[in-house]
Amino acid sequence: MSKKKVDGFSKKNKLEKTDWLVQEYLSSGEGNVSDFTKFWLASPEEQKLIDGFSENTISNFVLPYGIAPNFLIDGQIYAVPMVIEESSVVAAAASAAKYWLERDGFFTTILGTTKVGQIHFIWPGSFGQLSSFSEDLTHKLLHGVEDIIGNMKKRGGGIEKIEFLDYTFCEANLYQCRVHFQTCDSMGANFINTILEKFADIIENYFVDHNELPDEKKDVDIIMSILSNYTPECLVRAEVRTPIHRLGDFANGMMAKTLAEKFALAVKIARNDVYRATTHNKGIFNGIDAEGLATGNDFRAVEAAGHAYAAKDGLYRGLSQCAIEGGYFHFWLDIPLAVGTIGGLTTLHPLAKKSMEILGNPNAETLMSIMASVGLAQNFSAVKSLVTTGIQQGHMKMHLLNILNSLEASDTVSRKAILHFEKNTVSYSAVREFIVKENLNSDL
Ligand code: MEV
Repeated sequence: MSKKKVDGFSKKNKLEKTDWLVQEYLSSGEGNVSDFTKFWLASPEEQKLIDGFSENTISNFVLPYGIAPNFLIDGQIYAVPMVIEESSVVAAAASAAKYWLERDGFFTTILGTTKVGQIHFIWPGSFGQLSSFSEDLTHKLLHGVEDIIGNMKKRGGGIEKIEFLDYTFCEANLYQCRVHFQTCDSMGANFINTILEKFADIIENYFVDHNELPDEKKDVDIIMSILSNYTPECLVRAEVRTPIHRLGDFANGMMAKTLAEKFALAVKIARNDVYRATTHNKGIFNGIDAEGLATGNDFRAVEAAGHAYAAKDGLYRGLSQCAIEGGYFHFWLDIPLAVGTIGGLTTLHPLAKKSMEILGNPNAETLMSIMASVGLAQNFSAVKSLVTTGIQQGHMKMHLLNILNSLEASDTVSRKAILHFEKNTVSYSAVREFIVKENLNSDL
């Protein structure tokens, strides 16, 4: 039996876990315990807090935390915290923010805040028969959660609607109870799932006392109860609009009108081609995920909803849209964003808490507006670069800095390299050669 198999790993303490890992997997000299422990936080209390978010933790994986300032959104200026490992993303967000700051900024509209949960169950009766019970069953469901829903109701949230849907097209006797929720400023996953599991118990036992039914119809088989991450009714629109002549001139002498037309065509291509749409939307999520991470939101949930929404017409499309109308350039993004500003990591993670503070402790709707604007800004920068200079120019500048850092170039050599590579192609070996030559020159 391989030594790599382990029992009771979760019972070991952090150092024991790390020690075991290093012995079993990194013993060829590629690692030691301090490679992991050096990323532990100085404060044991804070480290304990972070460890508590997950399981079997042995270290922290550090990502850059950056700020994109000058975001004018609905008349307020925000400095937006972003957590992302990809170079150029924060720079692109900051540059689009500054650009639109000078052109009236971003405007947003909350198009809905409804979230959905589902209970799937098998019941050996017809949908017509189930429907005849739906009013009474709904009443019993609502009554059954009165005690756990009180606080949410006081905050203005709760259950909006309960529906019973026929899923016998999928499986014989399969039905869905779909519940529509308002969860105010919390993302609401725990609230929704708690209610759904309680509802499932009620549905499971509902028919038992119905003596008019034959015995086989008294049994309900609950398949599963869980919130849906598809939130097309928790939707926000972010938009920018300006007269075309105010767009300004662009790189390589491109005039505003040409930029607007090429830009609109690039967006249209993303609306109609799945290969381009996926990359286009990836650019949008560069901003949205970075903001989601910085504020302690579940960026996987946000991505899942966004991609499903992008495919709502049966074709996966680019999420943003662009129109040139009456001499105006209009660019907008409708995106589902089920995010929270209270509860979960948003209030527990020390830097997520700081991010919220930086953003003025927004409510969930304001955070939706900020995130959608950052996504739109990111998309604006990417598409503008693509239809003017291409993206490599900017990327290569950042790439050069990363290479210089990794090769530990001095400040003087780095300054010379930046000048040199304005006119020469950046590659790892070219930069290394340049540094070696410069170091030699300075030794002579
Ligand atoms: C790179 O992370 C994102 C872009 O590819 C987005 C796009 O092509 O629109 C630049």
